[in-house]
Amino acid sequence: MSHTLTNITLKIWRQDGPDGQGRFETHQIPQISDEASFLEMLDILNERLIEEGREAIVFDHDCREGICGTCSLMIDGQAHGPQQGAATCQLHMRTFSSGDEIVIEPWRATAFPIIKDLMVSRAPLDRIVESGGFITAPTGGAPDANLIPIPKPVSDAAMDNAACIGCGACVAACPNGAASLFTSAKLTHLNLLPQGQAERYKRAEAMVEVMDDDVGELVAKVKELGIANNTLIMFTSDNGPHQEGGHDPAYFNSNGSQRGFKRDLYEGGIHVPMIAAWPGHIAAGTQTDHLSAFWDVLPTVAELVGQPVPDTIDGVSFVPTLLGKKGQEEHKYLYWEFHEKKGRVALRQGQWKAVRYNVAADPDSPLELFDLSADPGETVNVADQHPEVVTKMNAQIKSARTASELPKFNFPLVRKRGSHGGVRKK
Ligand code: SF4
Ligand code: FES
Repeated sequence: MSHTLTNITLKIWRQDGPDGQGRFETHQIPQISDEASFLEMLDILNERLIEEGREAIVFDHDCREGICGTCSLMIDGQAHGPQQGAATCQLHMRTFSSGDEIVIEPWRATAFPIIKDLMVSRAPLDRIVESGGFITAPTGGAPDANLIPIPKPVSDAAMDNAACIGCGACVAACPNGAASLFTSAKLTHLNLLPQGQAERYKRAEAMVEVMDDDVGELVAKVKELGIANNTLIMFTSDNGPHQEGGHDPAYFNSNGSQRGFKRDLYEGGIHVPMIAAWPGHIAAGTQTDHLSAFWDVLPTVAELVGQPVPDTIDGVSFVPTLLGKKGQEEHKYLYWEFHEKKGRVALRQGQWKAVRYNVAADPDSPLELFDLSADPGETVNVADQHPEVVTKMNAQIKSARTASELPKFNFPLVRKRGSHGGVRKK
């Protein structure tokens, strides 16, 4: 049974064009059925505005069925509003209550310039699709759907990724305005299917090229604005290459001679390149062997902008290395944990790298030891030759961690007393 909502207040973003000065405009909706869709509510408001001789609010939409991805609205600060897994056009007024104030904005991401009011240009997503989010298929009569049998798990995974409607909500919701979700969805659903194999590498190459071009545009813009000497650009990755979603890391030889892939704690999973550019501060073309990790970025940026560094973190600022100055503090060691795949831990100290797998199942599983100075590919486990190093690194692994508030991140690092005669940590 339908109900009527009363006294809804809308605060709607109005903007004449990409360079216009935006502002919020307030509109009242005295009565609306809770069966009305959110876009129908805007239609009703627009009809009233037109009757009053005022300009209608511009917003984007097409299918109104959750398929096309064009109805991109930020509602009360959430992409597509409060209903999970639904596009704006699938949102109904029953989600709201009488007397509610609803704030409606366009996607707020630099990548999406506002065309007018609530409508944005999503051309950047089109560029990604244009570069590699398609396959070349001969048109003509409809092919027999069963001509190419596809295993169900593969078709399920491909369909999960194909569910991306290209709405851009992931970009709008990401604090960095990144399109990583969108890009991976576009690559993965095609890479998994037999039909996508023929152009698989061409698509990946084209997408990497577009990313290169875009980074080049960004650097050029920084120069054009005259802020290059005041802008530090860092380019890196949060893990090594993966081999998921149909990706083939061998094609680009992405991890070189390093062992393992994303989710491994061998070097191939965690050892990544980083490029930093800062004209007038970082000498061009220089390299460093300084051992650093992602958790060093916070103290580095804090030092650069003159902010205090929290004393609860392990990070060490790498500003001296960037600036080519003496006095770079070194990590005593670097420690990693990974909580999927039965739990994995690793510790890097100088030339040594210790790796333990299956930790959740067996906290005493053998510790592998590698000498990275002689064996960067971690091919030979030298634990038997260096028992004193194993003992030392074992002790550091046990003392390195801080208990997490989340139980799933607290696998035991030492077997419980009695289970195999070991000693529980606490
Ligand atoms: S991946 Fe991004 S663009 Fe695709 S449906 Fe999800 S939010 Fe929308
Ligand atoms: S209008 Fe097409 S998904 Fe909303």
